[in-house]
Amino acid sequence: MTKLITVLNGPNLNLLGQREPEKYGAKSLADVEAEVTELAGEIGLKVLFQQSNSEGGLVDMIHSARETSAGIIINPAAYSHTSVAILDALNTFDGPVIEVHISNIHKREEFRHHSFVSARAQGVIAGCGTQGYSLALRHIATLV
Ligand code: DQA
Repeated sequence: MTKLITVLNGPNLNLLGQREPEKYGAKSLADVEAEVTELAGEIGLKVLFQQSNSEGGLVDMIHSARETSAGIIINPAAYSHTSVAILDALNTFDGPVIEVHISNIHKREEFRHHSFVSARAQGVIAGCGTQGYSLALRHIATLV
């Protein structure tokens, strides 16, 4: 059976393409979803691509992934830097987790340098633009 990868996006990423394009690029989240879905088909995976502006919404999506998914790719956005709840939820998930940041959080303000999620992630991709999602998918394909 084709394995499912859940791709989760945190707050404000619904505005990708409109929001600070100098930092996050011109593509919309729908564009990224289309790219990742196409790549998944090529490499024999399926993706469930989701976004929530709320911490609890992301926690619920991670709980659902426990039942459905072989791996999780997550851009927790601002919750990366604040959320123990998302870290705890990811710690209930058995498969690999790859963390993605579109921008290089280490080149930005100091408060963005620490991510709670990184303690759980097998790998972290930051600063590769929206291409980071495809890189994460190619990598997670080797793990599931
Ligand atoms: C982000 C980086 C975060 O610091 C920021 O809050 C975001 C997006 C990124 O993809 O570069 O919303 O996760």
